[in-house]
Amino acid sequence: MIIKKLDKNFDITIDEIASDKSISHRCAIFSLLSDKTSIIKNYLRAEDTMNSLKIAELLGAKIEDDGNIIKITPPKELKEPFEILDCGNSGTSIRIYSGLLAGIDGFFVLTGDKYLRKRPMKRIAKPLISIGAKIDGRENGNLAPLAIRGGKLNAFNYTSKIASAQVKSAMILAALNADNLSTYTEPSLSRDHTERMLKGMGAKLEIDEKITIFPLTKPLDALEIEVPTDPSSAFFFAVAAAITKSKVILKNLTLNPTRIEAFKILEKMGAKIEYLLKDDKYEPIGDIIVTGNKLKAVEVTQNIAWLIDEIPALAMAMAVADGKSIVKNAKELRVKESDRITATISNLEKCGIQTKEFEDGFAIIGGKVKSAKIDSFGDHRIAMSFAILGLLNGMEINDTECILTSFPNFTQILNRITEVIY
Ligand code: S3P
Repeated sequence: MIIKKLDKNFDITIDEIASDKSISHRCAIFSLLSDKTSIIKNYLRAEDTMNSLKIAELLGAKIEDDGNIIKITPPKELKEPFEILDCGNSGTSIRIYSGLLAGIDGFFVLTGDKYLRKRPMKRIAKPLISIGAKIDGRENGNLAPLAIRGGKLNAFNYTSKIASAQVKSAMILAALNADNLSTYTEPSLSRDHTERMLKGMGAKLEIDEKITIFPLTKPLDALEIEVPTDPSSAFFFAVAAAITKSKVILKNLTLNPTRIEAFKILEKMGAKIEYLLKDDKYEPIGDIIVTGNKLKAVEVTQNIAWLIDEIPALAMAMAVADGKSIVKNAKELRVKESDRITATISNLEKCGIQTKEFEDGFAIIGGKVKSAKIDSFGDHRIAMSFAILGLLNGMEINDTECILTSFPNFTQILNRITEVIY
């Protein structure tokens, strides 16, 4: 993909940004916990989330899709699938489904693409095995394909060392099928869609410094939800406006505080950001308006779980900001769809930006960005981040198919701003 340099700054409203990926996965998976039909509007039609939906179907759900609304009717009991469950590129899908299936009678094999098969699964396999789950996989259960023999699970009090919503969600689903009250504690709050949605469906969860989960005594209520816009996808266009002194109105985002921290950082760097709350059902929902301005360097060392997916895009703003920006405490970046520390830094170096790589982050000295040939490492967020950086001086990015995993119409939207050749 070739991105041409922006020839004049823009002032646009974008209301067609992809729906939220995290919430869409959860819609597909959590609808299986009900005995009624869930009705989902604006489900994300991207590769990752369509895989989650397909898996729900293989587990016995009836899916009706009129191209607008998706209805998911769960089976009376989840069925042992005839096929392998393919989660594609999605860590969220494989980890959350594992937590659910560990407590369901049957044999399940979960796998994914060549990138997912390299990502660590021990973080869910180990705590699940400790409560009686039978899980195996390559490298002693750390790597997919994972084979799960579902069955009875014991209640637990588990303290996780990482703030991961995927691990938390897997354990909460396991706890719903356990034999007694369980508790889950995380080192700092990770995105909390699972807690919000399950509570909205009638699950009994008590949340203070730990989460107490009561096992299900009956099926949950069905979901009736309009999935908001994904703030992680919208953030690419926030950065686009910030680095080109343009203006963008991003419509109908979840304004959940665990998801919009990157916008707060961009604000700290000098962009003008307004938040307009419009609705609050499972999640607070509203518009974000971003107006570009001169950017200054920033240090990002806290609330990392709240902006982990946006760090590559934030790094693009750091590359043009005045001074030295630092990101620390973010070693989780190394086990995402690619090693995002190496992917971001090696590509920024190609663009002539001075950087330093740390085990848990990086430093970037803002400067003049050159056009370069970028390697996406097969990672959608790396491809989209550098496409946005290309607005400054042009960019060529290889292997951009991966964008389809989360944001299929990214290129069309970018085309509204500048010329994109692909
Ligand atoms: C997600 C949680 C995050 C995030 C991922 C989606 C989720 O991963 O990076 O893109 O939907 O739960 P971790 O929870 O492993 O940090």
